[in-house]
Amino acid sequence: MVKVDVKYTKLFINNEFVDAVSKKTFPTINPQDETVIAQVAEGDKADVDKAVAAAKKAFHRYSTWRTMDASQRGLLMLKLADLIESQARYLAELETLDCGKPVKEAEFEVYYAVTVLRYYAGKADKILGSTIPADGEVLSFTLKEPVGVCAQIIPWNYPIPMMSWKIAPALAAGCTLIVKPAEQTPLTALAVAALVKEAGFPPGVINVIPGYGPTAGAALTHHPNVDKVAFTGSTEVGRIILGAASTVNLKRVTLELGGKSPLVVFNDADVEKAAQIAHAAAFANAGQCCCAGTRTYVQSGIYDQFVQKAAEIAKKRSVGNPFDDVQQGPQIDKDMYTRVLEYIEAGKASGAKCIAGGEKMGNKGFYIKPTVFADVKDDMKIAREEIFGPVQSIFKFDTFEEVIDRANDSNYGLGAGVVTNDITTALTFAKQIRSGSVWINTYDHVTSQTPFGGFKDSGLGRELGEEGINQYLECKTVTLSLPKVPQL
Ligand code: NAI
Ligand code: MG
Repeated sequence: MVKVDVKYTKLFINNEFVDAVSKKTFPTINPQDETVIAQVAEGDKADVDKAVAAAKKAFHRYSTWRTMDASQRGLLMLKLADLIESQARYLAELETLDCGKPVKEAEFEVYYAVTVLRYYAGKADKILGSTIPADGEVLSFTLKEPVGVCAQIIPWNYPIPMMSWKIAPALAAGCTLIVKPAEQTPLTALAVAALVKEAGFPPGVINVIPGYGPTAGAALTHHPNVDKVAFTGSTEVGRIILGAASTVNLKRVTLELGGKSPLVVFNDADVEKAAQIAHAAAFANAGQCCCAGTRTYVQSGIYDQFVQKAAEIAKKRSVGNPFDDVQQGPQIDKDMYTRVLEYIEAGKASGAKCIAGGEKMGNKGFYIKPTVFADVKDDMKIAREEIFGPVQSIFKFDTFEEVIDRANDSNYGLGAGVVTNDITTALTFAKQIRSGSVWINTYDHVTSQTPFGGFKDSGLGRELGEEGINQYLECKTVTLSLPKVPQL
């Protein structure tokens, strides 16, 4: 077993690590063997009050942060990116310990988060308003200003990348933040907090409060001095947050929620390549991915061949100790593990054909075999609900018209994929599918430059790219009266 040093377990408020006001702690569990890794300070309302007060002070118009040159904000972000990069291996191992993802993926994710910070660091001094030819004897222009104090509630599936998606655009915009990591994975957010201080951010600009959703999370979403909530997680909690955000004030809200994303393979595709793309789409991060392409639609001409290939690839997928060179580690926790196994049973009971996996693996830790169902029907539970585990469902279709309607027949609309060599088919699909991202002959290609988010119940607003920073900016219109000019 790899030994990883857990250095930070307290709340991070005002650039200091402190105990919870209640002195309470909660255990964070290693999903590999269900042991307790560490006790972590458990934030609640009293701690949220302290963190929000710190963030509000740091947002005061005369604060160091607010009076700093925008370019300097960018430099601080670059410094943070460098520090994170210099600790990539440590952060990756800490993540693997806490959430069970293969360590080489965790390491890739740390480097990815660094690219997000660097992208937005470059934007800090390029936030532009516009000058407007307004009617009347006036000069009008807009100022883009930071939204204010932001609560950022993040999930456990990609803790470091999700933290970067939240903090990078908000910092570039000049906001101050309270980050609440998921209760399953609080450790890397705290390790990053230590680097925030080292990078030289003024106290209160970034605060990190580990804790549970209904306590620490709810205290943030109900706080009168929080101006914005950004959330990634379940659609169910997204709805609760949207409601909470309108109770004591009207918070700006961005939500990045669940999905049941389709990936459509046409007859002209190379079956081997298509099956590999579909496999990666469904099983990335043990299926714990918001945009996982879990509904694989395959055209009838290649259906049988494809199904066989998909089963073969899934059976070969290596599952085991995430510190070894494997493709898949355990699921995040007992709840998710149980839930995914229930979905697998529901799939079998509804008559879908289980052609790979279909059960847990071993008796210790939350491991599930990569599972493939063929001949899935659109109305089955496994076809409609987000499973968030290593389960792929394969459906047969005949025509383009038919598959577009079936692919769109979901409350979700986060990602979609199409595999074909026909440009017209690909682009017609891209135009007609109702989802925030469409990938052609690839899947899950998400970079700091490209906006990401959902249609329908998959969310509100976008993260990343130009769109991502706009969600942290208010637009102020300034209009100046000019002297009336004489008529010639
Ligand atoms: P969740 O939505 O309950 O948790 C995500 C975050 O929200 C965590 O930080 C949690 O503490 C916080 N939270 C929970 N209740 C809250 C509340 N009332 N107010 C404020 N914050 C709150 O997700 P959970 O329970 O971990 O997983 C359940 C399902 O959610 C998964 O099976 C999956 O379908 C979906 N999910 C989607 C993710 C995505 O990337 N879109 C990530 C994680 C989960
Ligand atoms: Mg939950």
